Amino acid sequence: MKGVILAGGLGKRLFPLTKITNKHLLPVYDRPMIYYPIETLLNAGIRDILIVTGGNNAGDFLRLLGNGNDFGLKHLNYTYQQKEGGIAEALGLAEHFADGEKILVMLGDNIIEGNLRVSVDNFKKQKSGAKILLKQVDNPREYGIAYIKKGRILKIEEKPKNPKSNYAVTGIYMYDSEVFDIVKTLKPSARGELEITDVNNAYLRKENLSYSFLKGFWLDAGESIDALLKTNKIVAQKGANKKYF
Ligand code: G1P
Repeated sequence: MKGVILAGGLGKRLFPLTKITNKHLLPVYDRPMIYYPIETLLNAGIRDILIVTGGNNAGDFLRLLGNGNDFGLKHLNYTYQQKEGGIAEALGLAEHFADGEKILVMLGDNIIEGNLRVSVDNFKKQKSGAKILLKQVDNPREYGIAYIKKGRILKIEEKPKNPKSNYAVTGIYMYDSEVFDIVKTLKPSARGELEITDVNNAYLRKENLSYSFLKGFWLDAGESIDALLKTNKIVAQKGANKKYF
């Protein structure tokens, strides 16, 4: 399985920190944010990685990460998102890289404590479709929220005004190669973006979306300035030198 890290966007919720750099290059404790999802993929056994970035600071990813030597890699793949078209549009740019294989997609500002190896192994065994990872949260209005009945997801709603559940869809998604056909059918949402929630709902309609709950903490560092501060504190508490994620 290959890995795709989405690290574009304008990072508006973190202005003015993101006025002169990309959100995913901001520090989280002792290293740039993007280091964490890369380590998460490596810990899950995924070594073939594509970074999708965009905006004015895209070149800084090359200076920072190069060919991935700091992570024991010989090569990293990059692609460039020309417009701010949303998560699903960024994902669409990975079609050539995926080349028919299953992929794990991770948002570059998501930081987790646990290891994805078991979920990845389970998805490898899944014949087709997609898999998402859920986590209970206190602020469901900020996320894609899954409604579950009798163990089955009925629907996912993007940032609901009146959430009826608090199961957030984390920024970790596993897809088969059909995802690229689905992305091509999407229409922009009210915020003018191709939504990842629409991709997941398309799999749901085909009854081909599995899920599991993420163990350990899940932090969406880019959600707000306060979330970034909280992420820094939690990661610092865990200790910089321990390989805990
Ligand atoms: C995105 C997704 C949302 C998901 C969240 C996880 O939100 O649209 O469904 O719950 O990432 O980090 P965004 O960060 O684009 O607002």
